Amino acid sequence: MNEHTLSRRLERVAANVPVGARLADIGSDHGYLPVAMMRRGLIAAAVAGEVAATPFHAAQRTVRDNGLEKSITVRLADGLAAIEVGDGITAISICGMGGETIRDILDNGKAHLAGHERLILQPNGGEQPLRHWLMHNGYRILTEELLQENRFYYEIIVAERAEPVTYTDEELYFGPLQLQARSPEFLAKWQRMLRQKHKTLASLEQAKQWVPEDKVQEIARQARWIAQLLA
Ligand SMILES: C[S@@+](CC[C@H](N)C(=O)[O-])C[C@H]1O[C@@H](n2cnc3c(N)ncnc32)[C@H](O)[C@@H]1O
Repeated sequence: MNEHTLSRRLERVAANVPVGARLADIGSDHGYLPVAMMRRGLIAAAVAGEVAATPFHAAQRTVRDNGLEKSITVRLADGLAAIEVGDGITAISICGMGGETIRDILDNGKAHLAGHERLILQPNGGEQPLRHWLMHNGYRILTEELLQENRFYYEIIVAERAEPVTYTDEELYFGPLQLQARSPEFLAKWQRMLRQKHKTLASLEQAKQWVPEDKVQEIARQARWIAQLLA
């Protein structure tokens, strides 16, 4: 992957960024997503935010090598602190991190959100707590995508501020739109997850150390939901 050829995962993220957006890519690493989108003329401007020095310098290098310093600003900052009011950001991508980390970035950075930005989120696991945060902070899920790359399943969640919406526990767990659509990838993912839950429950049963009962009950509840879904 580089700024010319994105991974399939980041291509799908790019496809959910509105054309002409002013994009903030938080946790940009090498800055491939904003640089590729700018090279293709798909966005008007971008901020690439990075909390760590090495990827921050890598993003600066990618922007410089492509002569895009005027349209892409690289900032060393924690989460949404990379966004300044004058940037006029209209879309925020946060990709390739755990769902809880993305949730914490959004929660800690609320002061930097104007409220009209489209969020394009690609969590690696932890989708349930992320959807929970979106629901409790006035976001509606507009699109959900599930794709498989290199044996891993990736979810892309696109959300915007809207009228309050209530999702059930199952919708928060599986994804409200994916639950409706029940695509073949979705069913294959949950077949695999059900096998994993059963393995985990079996090993917890045999575990020598004490395991909190509520933890076991939570996994058992999830396994029941998945079994019902696949029934
Ligand atoms: C696995 S990389 C993902 C890179 C790219 N977004 C992608 O999806 O391919 C995660 C990046 O997020 C950065 N990161 C983690 N927490 C962050 C935070 N609070 N603020 C900004 N960047 C963060 C890390 O330094 C790392 O470069």
